[in-house]
Amino acid sequence: MTEHNDTTADQLPRLGVVIGSIRTPRKADSVADWVRKHLEAHDYPAEFTVLDLKDFELPPLEHFNQHSDQHAPADLVRWRDAVDGCEGFLFITPEYNRAAPGYFKNAYDLLDVQWKHKPVGFISYGGVGGARAVDQWRVSMAPYGMYTIGQQILLYNRYDFDSDTLQVNDRHEKSLGKLLEELHRLTVATRPLRQN
Ligand SMILES: Cc1cc2nc3c(=O)[nH]c(=O)nc-3n(C[C@H](O)[C@H](O)[C@H](O)COP(=O)(O)O)c2cc1C
Repeated sequence: MTEHNDTTADQLPRLGVVIGSIRTPRKADSVADWVRKHLEAHDYPAEFTVLDLKDFELPPLEHFNQHSDQHAPADLVRWRDAVDGCEGFLFITPEYNRAAPGYFKNAYDLLDVQWKHKPVGFISYGGVGGARAVDQWRVSMAPYGMYTIGQQILLYNRYDFDSDTLQVNDRHEKSLGKLLEELHRLTVATRPLRQN
């Protein structure tokens, strides 16, 4: 079991952008492209890593043994270490059946201390902006004392997308800027709480 607590105060925050859909095609690609472009266009004092669930072949929960790497599939170890290496997260989450997507929730459930006391912001999408998925995420994050940011970006299938393509506008850009600033601020402020 690993816990990444070796951060020094002058290090840039390491933030993970987690893409929570594994469908093909998926709206998530367009949302993630927007986030990538936004990050390229702005000089945020942070290191960003994209964690695309499509790149991880994760097992169901039955394989999980948090105390041992023995028999753990390589992708599960890679997923754990990738999450462990991040100090905060931006979750890009669709809403399926009025909830967080099952595969995404399983990926979350597979880990443990790697989430502990880390901040998270949300970009969600769906018929009503994915609001119900985010509500569920917030509840699921309580056991690990994750710091969920109140402001969230809701993208509406009908108004913000043309088919699977996000129609980016100034309001989106402004909201993302604010959300990333808050994620950065909270990640730095909560560093002492993640030290052993
Ligand atoms: C299995 C499934 C269930 C869905 N359920 C909901 C839902 O409850 N509420 C909603 O707003 N959209 C729902 N949708 C529509 C999604 O918002 C939309 O399909 C979106 O494209 C899914 O994101 P993705 O393409 O990135 O996977 C559902 C889609 C799928 C595939």
